[in-house]
Amino acid sequence: MRMSVIGCGYLGAVHAAAMASIGHDVVGVDVDAARIAALRSGRAPFFEPDLDDLLAAGLASGRLRFTDEMSAASGADIHFLAVGTPQRPGAHAADLRYVDAAVDALVPYLRPGDLLAGKSTVPVGTAAGIAERISPSGAVLVWNPEFLREGWAVHDTITPDRIVVGVPDGADGERAATRLREAYGTALESGAPFLVTDLATAELVKGAANAFLATKVSFINAMAEIAEAVGADVTLLADALGHDTRIGRRYLGSGIGFGGGCLPKDIRAFAARAEELGHGDAVGFLREVDAINLRRRDRAVQMVVDALDGRVHGTRVAVLGAAFKPFSDDIRDSPALEVAVRLRGLGADVVVTDPAALENARALHPQLAYADDRDEALRGADAVVLVTEWDLYRREMDPDRAGALVARRIIVDGRNCLDPSSWRAADWRYHGMGRR
Ligand code: UDX
Repeated sequence: MRMSVIGCGYLGAVHAAAMASIGHDVVGVDVDAARIAALRSGRAPFFEPDLDDLLAAGLASGRLRFTDEMSAASGADIHFLAVGTPQRPGAHAADLRYVDAAVDALVPYLRPGDLLAGKSTVPVGTAAGIAERISPSGAVLVWNPEFLREGWAVHDTITPDRIVVGVPDGADGERAATRLREAYGTALESGAPFLVTDLATAELVKGAANAFLATKVSFINAMAEIAEAVGADVTLLADALGHDTRIGRRYLGSGIGFGGGCLPKDIRAFAARAEELGHGDAVGFLREVDAINLRRRDRAVQMVVDALDGRVHGTRVAVLGAAFKPFSDDIRDSPALEVAVRLRGLGADVVVTDPAALENARALHPQLAYADDRDEALRGADAVVLVTEWDLYRREMDPDRAGALVARRIIVDGRNCLDPSSWRAADWRYHGMGRR
């Protein structure tokens, strides 16, 4: 099939390359010329495992192109809308300006019978509005939310755990669903369930999925607060809860909480939309989920202060991690960086290191000191804070070797990912979050 992908960020660039890899003829369109230049040369403009290879293969096959000219979308059978929907400045609601601009720019190139498939995360009701705006062109709007995780984006796009397609009622909707089945044929062959819904349900699935995931993380972090008060261990609690298959262990990772370009802003936008609909109370708990999550950052900072006996000013603190999670260079709403910035605000001499996100972190927070190398960050540290669970820190950091580098053997494990006994055995004062 011929496809266009409008918006080539984390979502669109991966989607375009993945669609080309399964045999479609794809053009990616973005207004950011630098991003397009990188993609054209086969370089992902952000850190995403396996994406460079997929881009190179797609470009070499001739089935994948990138451009900043919207006219290139003309002639595609399916146009995927994959632009960002950030948080609106000064509000909790989603900022739909990029969606609106992309739709306006695309409309002149839509032909009767084309499909416009929305993938961006939008407040429920947005799709109905877009459907109305494109209806004079004779194109049909469907909603096809994306559930990819950064760091696993290629895998999640090529072998998704489900495909959700919201379609309009009637014959148009049936034809659209059939066409999308063809588009995703490879994923369906490997067993991905294909769920056809109305437009509003498809929009809701995405918001609800992220709300659920955020709630799960905040639930275990709320338990960490209680565990800490009574001297229990939240990681053992999570293991025990996780054996109940109705609960499951995944996404019960406690620590400094969630961040990134999706969960925080999506739960806020979801709650804001519910309020507009007069049903804010139904998701009032999301405010609590957000508050629990933000409290974790306070708690991590306080733990470092306590570990240094309240004397933070002038001490050297090594912050291991800047990205909001491993296998990513994304620092949007990163709890890791926030902890670093706040410690620096308290007068600590903070040195941040991260295997992928340093360039982004430097650009956003030039006031912090950075070390390209983990050991350089550890050297002379009075305290170490692990805030992004890269293997480099979680698996490959030896307590004795690290101990030889630091000034004082104090470690705060903001991701509860280290084995406390091996660190204590090497004479470290180990502090987990909600762990004995
Ligand atoms: C998330 C959803 O997983 C994805 O389906 C959706 O499309 C976009 O948002 P992503 O933001 O890439 O994806 O990352 P994810 O792996 O879900 O992690 C989100 C945040 O939660 C990270 O900051 C991570 O560190 C944190 N997290 C995750 C925890 O604190 N504990 C966990 O157990 C899991």
